Amino acid sequence: MKQPAAFSSVFLILAMSGVSATAASPVQAATDAIDAREVYERHCRVCHTMQPPATTAPPVQGVSARYRGAFGTRDAAVAAMVDFMKAPSAAKSKFGRGAISRFGLMPAMTISDKELTAVSAWIWDQYDPSAGNGNCR
Ligand code: HEC
Repeated sequence: MKQPAAFSSVFLILAMSGVSATAASPVQAATDAIDAREVYERHCRVCHTMQPPATTAPPVQGVSARYRGAFGTRDAAVAAMVDFMKAPSAAKSKFGRGAISRFGLMPAMTISDKELTAVSAWIWDQYDPSAGNGNCR
Protein backbone atom coordinates (compact mmCIF):
# COMPACT_ATOMS: atom_id res chain seq x y z
CA MET A 1 0.00 0.00 0.00
CA LYS A 2 1.27 3.47 -0.91
CA GLN A 3 -0.54 5.51 1.71
CA PRO A 4 1.70 4.87 4.73
CA ALA A 5 4.74 6.14 2.83
CA ALA A 6 2.92 9.31 1.79
CA PHE A 7 1.75 9.73 5.34
CA SER A 8 5.19 9.40 6.81
CA SER A 9 6.72 11.91 4.41
CA VAL A 10 4.00 14.42 5.34
CA PHE A 11 4.73 13.68 8.95
CA LEU A 12 8.45 14.18 8.36
CA ILE A 13 7.87 17.58 6.74
CA LEU A 14 5.64 18.64 9.63
CA ALA A 15 8.19 17.42 12.13
CA MET A 16 10.97 19.31 10.36
CA SER A 17 9.00 22.54 10.16
CA GLY A 18 8.22 22.09 13.85
CA VAL A 19 11.92 21.88 14.60
CA SER A 20 12.77 25.01 12.63
CA ALA A 21 9.89 26.93 14.26
CA THR A 22 11.36 26.03 17.66
CA ALA A 23 14.86 27.10 16.65
CA ALA A 24 13.46 30.42 15.38
CA SER A 25 12.43 31.50 18.90
CA PRO A 26 15.41 32.49 21.07
CA VAL A 27 13.18 32.26 24.15
CA GLN A 28 12.16 28.69 23.30
CA ALA A 29 15.75 27.71 22.48
CA ALA A 30 16.95 29.05 25.84
CA THR A 31 14.17 27.41 27.86
CA ASP A 32 14.79 24.09 26.09
CA ALA A 33 18.52 24.20 26.83
CA ILE A 34 18.58 25.50 30.40
CA ASP A 35 17.15 24.47 33.75
CA ALA A 36 15.72 27.88 34.67
CA ARG A 37 14.66 26.84 38.16
CA GLU A 38 18.27 25.96 38.87
CA VAL A 39 19.40 29.39 37.58
CA TYR A 40 16.90 30.98 39.96
CA GLU A 41 18.11 28.88 42.90
CA ARG A 42 21.72 29.72 42.20
CA HIS A 43 21.58 33.39 41.20
CA CYS A 44 18.28 34.97 42.25
CA ARG A 45 16.83 33.27 45.32
CA VAL A 46 19.27 34.94 47.70
CA CYS A 47 17.31 38.17 47.12
CA HIS A 48 13.99 37.11 45.51
CA THR A 49 11.60 34.88 47.48
CA MET A 50 8.95 33.08 45.42
CA GLN A 51 6.00 34.65 47.27
CA PRO A 52 5.46 37.52 49.66
CA PRO A 53 6.73 38.46 52.17
CA ALA A 54 9.57 40.14 50.31
CA THR A 55 13.02 39.98 51.88
CA THR A 56 15.48 42.15 49.95
CA ALA A 57 13.70 42.29 46.55
CA PRO A 58 10.20 41.91 45.08
CA PRO A 59 9.05 38.24 45.16
CA VAL A 60 9.11 36.30 41.86
CA GLN A 61 5.32 36.16 41.70
CA GLY A 62 5.16 39.94 42.09
CA VAL A 63 7.73 40.40 39.30
CA SER A 64 5.67 38.07 37.10
CA ALA A 65 2.44 39.97 37.79
CA ARG A 66 4.15 43.31 37.18
CA TYR A 67 5.63 42.25 33.84
CA ARG A 68 2.37 40.64 32.75
CA GLY A 69 0.67 43.96 33.43
CA ALA A 70 3.30 45.91 31.48
CA PHE A 71 3.74 43.65 28.42
CA GLY A 72 1.28 41.90 26.14
CA THR A 73 3.46 38.92 25.29
CA ARG A 74 5.88 36.62 27.08
CA ASP A 75 8.61 37.31 24.51
CA ALA A 76 8.36 41.10 24.98
CA ALA A 77 8.43 40.76 28.78
CA VAL A 78 11.41 38.39 28.60
CA ALA A 79 13.34 40.80 26.37
CA ALA A 80 12.69 43.66 28.83
CA MET A 81 13.70 41.56 31.86
CA VAL A 82 16.94 40.49 30.18
CA ASP A 83 17.74 44.06 29.20
CA PHE A 84 17.03 45.28 32.73
CA MET A 85 19.15 42.60 34.41
CA LYS A 86 22.21 43.29 32.26
CA ALA A 87 22.17 47.00 33.18
CA PRO A 88 19.48 47.84 35.76
CA SER A 89 18.28 51.45 35.88
CA ALA A 90 15.37 53.35 37.39
CA ALA A 91 14.29 54.37 33.88
CA LYS A 92 13.92 50.72 32.76
CA SER A 93 12.26 49.56 35.97
CA LYS A 94 8.65 48.39 35.80
CA PHE A 95 8.45 48.79 39.57
CA GLY A 96 9.69 52.35 39.69
CA ARG A 97 10.75 54.55 42.56
CA GLY A 98 8.73 52.84 45.31
CA ALA A 99 10.53 49.51 44.94
CA ILE A 100 13.91 51.11 44.30
CA SER A 101 13.75 53.29 47.40
CA ARG A 102 12.57 50.32 49.45
CA PHE A 103 15.04 47.73 48.13
CA GLY A 104 17.71 49.65 46.24
CA LEU A 105 18.45 49.05 42.54
CA MET A 106 19.16 45.46 41.56
CA PRO A 107 22.85 44.77 40.79
CA ALA A 108 23.68 43.85 37.16
CA MET A 109 23.74 40.11 36.44
CA THR A 110 26.79 38.67 34.73
CA ILE A 111 25.40 35.26 33.77
CA SER A 112 24.91 34.29 30.08
CA ASP A 113 22.17 35.74 27.86
CA LYS A 114 20.73 32.24 27.53
CA GLU A 115 20.48 31.84 31.29
CA LEU A 116 18.94 35.31 31.64
CA THR A 117 16.43 34.50 28.88
CA ALA A 118 15.47 31.13 30.37
CA VAL A 119 15.07 32.45 33.92
CA SER A 120 13.01 35.43 32.66
CA ALA A 121 10.61 33.12 30.78
CA TRP A 122 10.40 30.99 33.92
CA ILE A 123 9.51 34.07 35.99
CA TRP A 124 6.70 34.91 33.53
CA ASP A 125 5.41 31.33 33.97
CA GLN A 126 5.32 31.61 37.79
CA TYR A 127 2.31 33.95 37.63
CA ASP A 128 -0.31 33.17 40.24
CA PRO A 129 -3.53 35.21 39.85
CA SER A 130 -4.28 34.82 43.55
CA ALA A 131 -0.94 36.37 44.55
CA GLY A 132 -1.85 40.00 43.86
CA ASN A 133 -0.54 42.64 41.51
CA GLY A 134 3.13 42.79 42.36
CA ASN A 135 2.98 45.58 44.92
CA CYS A 136 5.22 43.54 47.26
CA ARG A 137 2.95 43.87 50.25
C1 HEC B 1 21.55 41.11 45.27
C2 HEC B 1 20.11 40.96 45.22
C3 HEC B 1 19.48 40.54 43.92
C4 HEC B 1 19.77 39.44 43.14
C5 HEC B 1 20.86 38.41 43.36
C6 HEC B 1 18.81 39.45 42.06
N1 HEC B 1 17.97 40.51 42.17
FE1 HEC B 1 16.42 40.98 40.92
N2 HEC B 1 16.01 42.63 42.00
C7 HEC B 1 16.67 43.00 43.16
C8 HEC B 1 16.08 44.22 43.69
C9 HEC B 1 16.52 44.95 44.93
C10 HEC B 1 15.02 44.56 42.80
C11 HEC B 1 14.01 45.72 42.96
C12 HEC B 1 14.57 47.04 42.55
C13 HEC B 1 14.79 47.09 41.08
O1 HEC B 1 13.85 46.91 40.28
O2 HEC B 1 15.96 47.30 40.69
C14 HEC B 1 15.02 43.54 41.75
C15 HEC B 1 14.17 43.55 40.67
C16 HEC B 1 14.12 42.57 39.70
C17 HEC B 1 13.28 42.61 38.54
C18 HEC B 1 12.28 43.70 38.21
C19 HEC B 1 13.03 44.85 37.58
C20 HEC B 1 12.17 46.09 37.43
O3 HEC B 1 12.28 46.96 38.30
O4 HEC B 1 11.42 46.18 36.45
C21 HEC B 1 13.52 41.47 37.83
C22 HEC B 1 12.88 41.05 36.52
C23 HEC B 1 14.52 40.73 38.55
N3 HEC B 1 14.87 41.43 39.68
C24 HEC B 1 14.99 39.49 38.17
C25 HEC B 1 16.06 38.85 38.80
C26 HEC B 1 16.58 37.58 38.37
C27 HEC B 1 16.00 36.73 37.27
C28 HEC B 1 17.66 37.31 39.16
C29 HEC B 1 18.61 36.15 39.05
C30 HEC B 1 19.22 35.93 37.75
C31 HEC B 1 17.78 38.40 40.10
N4 HEC B 1 16.79 39.31 39.85
C32 HEC B 1 18.76 38.47 41.07
C33 HEC B 1 17.73 42.36 43.76
C34 HEC B 1 18.34 41.21 43.28
